[in-house]
Amino acid sequence: MAANISPDLIARYGGNLPRYTSYPTAVSFSDAIGPQEVADWLKALPPEQSVSLYFHVPFCDELCRFCACNTAVMRQEEARAAYGDLLLEEMHRIVALVGQGRVVRHLHFGGGTPTTLPETALRNVMSAVREQFRLADDAEIAMEMDPRHVPEGMLPLLAELGFNRISFGVQDLDRIVQETCGRVQSYEQTLACVEQARAAGVNGVNIDLIYGLPYQTVESVQDTARRVAGMRPDRLAVFGYAHVPWKQKRQQLIPQDSLPSSEERLQQADRIDRVLVEEGYKSIGLDHYAHPEDAMAHAYEAGTLHRNFQGYTIDSSPVLLGMGASAISMTPDGFYQNIPSTAAYIRALKEHDGLPVARGVFRTEEDRWRGKVIETVMCLSGVDLTPYIPSGQGLEQAFAEELEALRPFEEDGLIRWEGNRVSLTEKGGPFLRHLAAVFDTRRKELAAAGEGKPVPRFSSSL
Ligand SMILES: C[S@@+](CC[C@H](N)C(=O)[O-])C[C@H]1O[C@@H](n2cnc3c(N)ncnc32)[C@H](O)[C@@H]1O
Ligand code: SF4
Repeated sequence: MAANISPDLIARYGGNLPRYTSYPTAVSFSDAIGPQEVADWLKALPPEQSVSLYFHVPFCDELCRFCACNTAVMRQEEARAAYGDLLLEEMHRIVALVGQGRVVRHLHFGGGTPTTLPETALRNVMSAVREQFRLADDAEIAMEMDPRHVPEGMLPLLAELGFNRISFGVQDLDRIVQETCGRVQSYEQTLACVEQARAAGVNGVNIDLIYGLPYQTVESVQDTARRVAGMRPDRLAVFGYAHVPWKQKRQQLIPQDSLPSSEERLQQADRIDRVLVEEGYKSIGLDHYAHPEDAMAHAYEAGTLHRNFQGYTIDSSPVLLGMGASAISMTPDGFYQNIPSTAAYIRALKEHDGLPVARGVFRTEEDRWRGKVIETVMCLSGVDLTPYIPSGQGLEQAFAEELEALRPFEEDGLIRWEGNRVSLTEKGGPFLRHLAAVFDTRRKELAAAGEGKPVPRFSSSL
């Protein structure tokens, strides 16, 4: 991280970019890929291929104004239980295509707030997973939780069901920031959850923080980072606030003039980085920190870190099967997303036999190698291009357009070259998404095809 980014650089490189949790990114998804295509992809998986599982639950106990996720409050317990039954139904349809007994090393419940599922629903999903798949003994089984709403007995239940990692949302500890975000959560509340999780035997603890929130300052984020680091989570995710009020209407309640500028955002990210590094954490990629003894820090050191729809992960499986409304999945043939609206997802499963897939994208040979380059940049802040140069060509010939696009980066001191390896300098640290975007030809094609049409909008890149 580097705080000394001049306003001139921010003006020239600012703008909106994808977070590259996949390549092609979700803007390339279309309804050319639907239930039938995905069923063929799933049937074609090699029998010995292990898979990862993701269950999406779009319900929350209350809604936070800053949150970009598509979530709703669902008060009726029967409706939440019925949603749990549909997750089971979708899983059975998937197993009918991929076959029983596949090894699972990573399983994640995300949302929303998946602990809004009633106890019976959580028990049923986990026992069906154990019946239909082979959960590895050392599998990572993770749950996202909101420390403000922990149902009685939930942490011992999760431990009993085999969960060994919990991600707690914190975001910020300052009262004014919390009130403006509509998420008031005391330090004591969070600490109590972390302690309850550990007492129940769930040792993997992650905490999410955000910078760039309304009224945050360098001093306030420093204070939050210091106090949260004192809880000794194994991993922290430090996200830049994505202000996308054109997509997420509830963010319109956040006054525009309360938001830090790009320059202040960079300074806040830099200060959090300094605190967490001082506290002994290893900085990983765009937005993660891990205790040096944590598996993610080891994977980073070994160059085996990955990036998928859940962000940075130690999961190396090329297959991620997502279940639930809006869940995104990955197979070697392509990516696809389930129907985003919860009501429409429920209808689709009740009224039709197939998978509740809305759209997706086929990965061409070029998508695959570019995806690997982009994932490597996002994980390691640089990439050796040698394996991607066709025989008989040199770097200049194989990557002429990219080299041209990278010239200003070099002049601005953001990157360095060592042979065919390009990497970000210390000054260039915040420009990870920019370096990745240089290898994203789909984005250029979409921009060219969409001239005159509205361009898909991402969150701020700085
Ligand atoms: C899907 S939420 C689930 C967490 C859980 N429901 C909670 O509130 O504690 C996961 C994380 O996404 C992050 N997040 C949500 N909206 C965001 C936004 N607009 N910009 C950046 N990060 C965001 C937050 O850090 C949040 O903890
Ligand atoms: S941050 Fe968590 S609790 Fe708040 S709206 Fe988003 S998913 Fe729900």
